[in-house]
Amino acid sequence: MPGQGRQGPDSFQRLARREGYRARSSYKLLDIDKRSKLFKKGFTVLDLGAAPGGWTQVALEKIGESGKVFAVDILRMAPIEGATILQGDILNSDFRKTILETTGPVDVVISDISPNLSGNYSVDQARSVELSQMALHLSVEMKAKSFVTKVFQGEDFSDFKKEVNIYFKSVRVLSPLASRKTSSEVYVIAKNRKS
Ligand SMILES: C[S@@+](CC[C@H](N)C(=O)[O-])C[C@H]1O[C@@H](n2cnc3c(N)ncnc32)[C@H](O)[C@@H]1O
Repeated sequence: MPGQGRQGPDSFQRLARREGYRARSSYKLLDIDKRSKLFKKGFTVLDLGAAPGGWTQVALEKIGESGKVFAVDILRMAPIEGATILQGDILNSDFRKTILETTGPVDVVISDISPNLSGNYSVDQARSVELSQMALHLSVEMKAKSFVTKVFQGEDFSDFKKEVNIYFKSVRVLSPLASRKTSSEVYVIAKNRKS
């Protein structure tokens, strides 16, 4: 990972190209995992908003050959060896049912979903929270041990965090090094599901 402190986006873009990652966002998940220890060998992972596949690549490395990754996106995604790709909209309840039926129990749900930006921040922020709520509900139904989601900070953020606290004992908010300096995105990291 590039040196100390928050770097310009270009250094992560260059590094991603050099190290064979499909997106600079891979370094956000590497940083989150370094600080929060999400993955273990053999885990099953659901990756929501997975295209082009940077997080999927990191998850596959972390869980090893005995693990499984299901990568979900509304967009078409080029195949990644070792991952099962599901294309659809997580706001669609039939598609969510398909996800649940396909994956079975999952150890970790990771979501880097971003809404299509409208340019109106409060609209985009509300959409980001709605997508994160869907991801949270899927992780609860799947009885995931840990859950990570990107959320835009704003009005509904603290209510969303309280909702995550209903289901998980440990909830932290991180801003990974590879996030752009000007970004309002943060990552909610929830561990130790309450039974
Ligand atoms: C920032 S990108 C994810 C980058 C990815 N984590 C990576 O490392 O390559 C956000 C993704 O969320 C997806 N997305 C947005 N809304 C969605 C929805 N309703 N259902 C499924 N995917 C969605 C977008 O298509 C986009 O690919």
